[in-house]
This record gives sequence, C-alpha cells and structure tokens, in this order.
Amino acid sequence: MPSASRSVAQLAGTTISLRPSQNFVETPAVQDLRNRALGYLRAGFPVHFRGPAGSGKTTLACHVAAQLGRPVVFLTGDDEMTTSNLVGGQFGYQYRKVVDRFIHTVTKYEEDATRNWSDHRLTTACREGHTLIYDEFTRSRPEANNILLGVLEERLLVLPAANRNESYVRVHPDFRAIFTSNPQEYSGVHDAQDALSDRMVMIDVDDLDRETELAITAARSGLHQSQVERIVDLVRNYRASGEYDQAPTLRGSIMIARIVAGQNLRVSSDDPRFVQTCLDLLGARASFNSRSKDDRLQQRKMLLSLIDHHCGARRNKADDDGGQPRAGGELTQSAAE
Ligand SMILES: Nc1ncnc2c1ncn2[C@@H]1O[C@H](COP(=O)(O)OP(=O)(O)OP(=O)(O)O)[C@@H](O)[C@H]1O
Ligand SMILES: [Mg+2]
Repeated sequence: MPSASRSVAQLAGTTISLRPSQNFVETPAVQDLRNRALGYLRAGFPVHFRGPAGSGKTTLACHVAAQLGRPVVFLTGDDEMTTSNLVGGQFGYQYRKVVDRFIHTVTKYEEDATRNWSDHRLTTACREGHTLIYDEFTRSRPEANNILLGVLEERLLVLPAANRNESYVRVHPDFRAIFTSNPQEYSGVHDAQDALSDRMVMIDVDDLDRETELAITAARSGLHQSQVERIVDLVRNYRASGEYDQAPTLRGSIMIARIVAGQNLRVSSDDPRFVQTCLDLLGARASFNSRSKDDRLQQRKMLLSLIDHHCGARRNKADDDGGQPRAGGELTQSAAE
C-alpha cells in the first residue's frame, strides 16, 4: 500500500487524508515524475501512471495526491465493480408512521417506507472536490468505468434514475483524478477504453534508474549502501537477462533487502541462507508450467552465477578496496557467466 501516511478517515470512512511521507524517496527521476504529474493535475487533467507490478505507481499516486492537499478517495479496480459501487444507490429504508387521534373515537394510521439514496466514493469525490485515486482501474469492467467519461470531460456526474432527488452532480472545480494500471498484467484485467485513456495524461513509470532503486531499497530496508548495491545490481542484472516469465521488480529488491536486514544475513554467496532467499524470491519468477525441468535448472544455474558475481568474493574484495566492479554496477549476462 501507499507510503504516504494516512490519518483519520473522514466522511464515514469514505475519504482519507494523505500527508507526504517521510519515507518517500525523491531522486531526480522521481521528482521529474512527480512534477510532471502535478503540473498536469493542476492544469485540470487526470493523470494515469502506467507501469509493471512493483514499479511504484501506487506509492507515487499517493504522494502526488498528498501534494494536492485535498482529502483523498481511494478506489481499487475490481471485476465485480459496478457503476452503483462507484456512484451510489438506494440502500436501506426510512419508515414513517403517523397515528392520528384527532377525533378520539377514530384512530387513523398512516405508514410508508422510502428508500434512501446513499452516495458512494466517486460521487463524494465529485461533490466535495476531493482527489480520486483509482488504483488498477483496468481491473474493473469498462461498462463500470463508463461513468467517468462525463466526469472527466463534461465535469458532470450523471446519477442513475433510481435517485429520484437528483439527476446529476456538477463536478467540484477542485476534483482531480489519478489512475494507475499495469499494462503487463494479463489475468483479471480489461483493456482501458480508448475514450477513457484519451481523457488522461499517461505517464510511464517503468524503467526506474539505478540511483532510484538504490535509494528506495536503502530507505525501505535500512541496509548499508554497499549491501544494497549488491542486491539491486543482482536484481537489475537478472531483469536485464530476460530469463524469467515475470520481471523481477523494485519490490523484489526491497523484499530481499528487508529479509537480509530482518534475519541478519550476509549479502554474500557464502551465506547459504542469503543464496536461498535470492533463489526463492527471484527463481520463482520463472513459470513452472511454461518451462521444462532442464530450462528451470539452467535458469537456476544462471541465477547462481549472477549471485556469485554480485555477491561473491570478487565483489566483496572490490567493495573492501573501495572500488566498484563495473561502472554503475551493471553487468551483462555473459559477463556473469
Ligand atoms: N519513491 C518511493 N519511495 C519509497 N518507497 C517507494 C517509492 N516508490 C516505490 N516504493 C516502494 O516500492 C514498493 C512497490 O511500490 P508500489 O506498491 O507503489 O508499486 P506498484 O507499481 O503500485 O505495484 P503493483 O502493481 O504490484 O501494485 C513498495 O514497497 C513501495 O513502498
Ligand atoms: Mg499498486
């Protein structure tokens, strides 16, 4: 979940107030993403952060929303999401009973029940001018998201006929929307409608630079810089090898680093627990079904040689000498073999 700190829920749990988090790492690359997004949002356009799993989309969306300084409404896309889940509906009954004894010999009863309309998160955000974060919005079916077309373009939220008191809500001028999606995800996602995508400014957050991955992994784990460098270089080099079905992400680096910190492991190919952790976290990125046993063994060998290259005696010596094994720590797969 987001790193921007969350505090008291307001409006019956509909909104959260986000403050910029101390733990949020801002390298020049992250600042560039943040500034571009804030510029578009302040100009009144919705922003869409698009990137693979673990690339920092949700964290960035929360950070940017915190900078806007408005309460935040957070939604997560879901195949089960309906327009009514987004907008609201008739929920519960209000009963009215009148007992009339105006004439003492006659008792008149009148009873009726009316259904209550209840705003849901999108309606609340539009009415109150909150910032909407719609995380993984392509997980919802396009027909559920259609309601956003009018909100983003005409700034009008059309309420379903069931709400007899009001037909539409004019979108508050402070309302802003930030979307995230993962274009590589293929299970449980839908294509974003062209019409919806066309209303947003798309910002890709895939290729994080080494400096950013190092800074985030160090901040999230508390490990020493030289240990973080070995882990991040190992993960980045494995990513560059293409020998996986699911790319190892920044989250992978953070997880390894946190396990190392939590279990006091040595970031070294001499520490079997460290090696096993890397194999468990990175080796599992090769799909079991799509690869033969030989392929998987080959992939494991390649991973072991990368671990040895980045965390073996050679790297330890380079670090002890105060040197770097290569410019930027990046290696090609063939160099690692
Ligand atoms: N700028 C940053 N500062 C500190 N931590 C960060 C930053 N960016 C990302 N992270 C951390 O990296 C990890 C992955 O980030 P996040 O969950 O935002 O990725 P995501 O792209 O939303 O992934 P998913 O698609 O799986 O939801 C999290 O642990 C997050 O706290
Ligand atoms: Mg996310």
